[in-house]
Amino acid sequence: MKRAIYPGSFDPVTLGHLDIIKRSAKIVDELVVGVLNNNLKTPLFSVENRVKMLNEVVKDIPNVKVMAFEGLLVDFAKKLDAKIIVRGLRAVTDFEYELQMSQTNMVLDNEIDTIFFTTSLEYAYLSSSTVKEAAYYGADISRFVPESVIPQVFEKLKEKEKKNE
Ligand code: PNS
Repeated sequence: MKRAIYPGSFDPVTLGHLDIIKRSAKIVDELVVGVLNNNLKTPLFSVENRVKMLNEVVKDIPNVKVMAFEGLLVDFAKKLDAKIIVRGLRAVTDFEYELQMSQTNMVLDNEIDTIFFTTSLEYAYLSSSTVKEAAYYGADISRFVPESVIPQVFEKLKEKEKKNE
């Protein structure tokens, strides 16, 4: 059983993430999308929300599972008996961070390898942060995130603004 983990914050999941999920799911038996429950970052969406949004968008891909994780990625991988980490590379600006992360993970556990998918051209510019910023200023985000995610982003931003009033 070849199991891989595609880890990330997914705050929220974008069409770029979905593209990597679909492509990587084709080359493994099972792909676990690992959603980081991170105390160091303050996400817009709770981890439960992010898992729920992801479950909606992957529901038609049979070998993809979505799970939240805390702590070290290599520990999560070990627990699931996954030897492959999947990450997407958009541009050269991603490279240094990704290289550092994959090498750190390799030192922490040398049985785990990271494989990189270069992002499809149409999503090369996309990031969860720019999606949130564009939505905050009222932009149409339908080319950035899956359809089911659109209303949830606007709803969450509205909630956040109300709290800040
Ligand atoms: O979507 P992101 O925020 O770029 O994903 C980053 C993620 C979740 C892959 C990374 O922060 C991570 O693996 N965090 C878990 C903690 C960990 O294992 N750190 C050591 C490796 S640098």
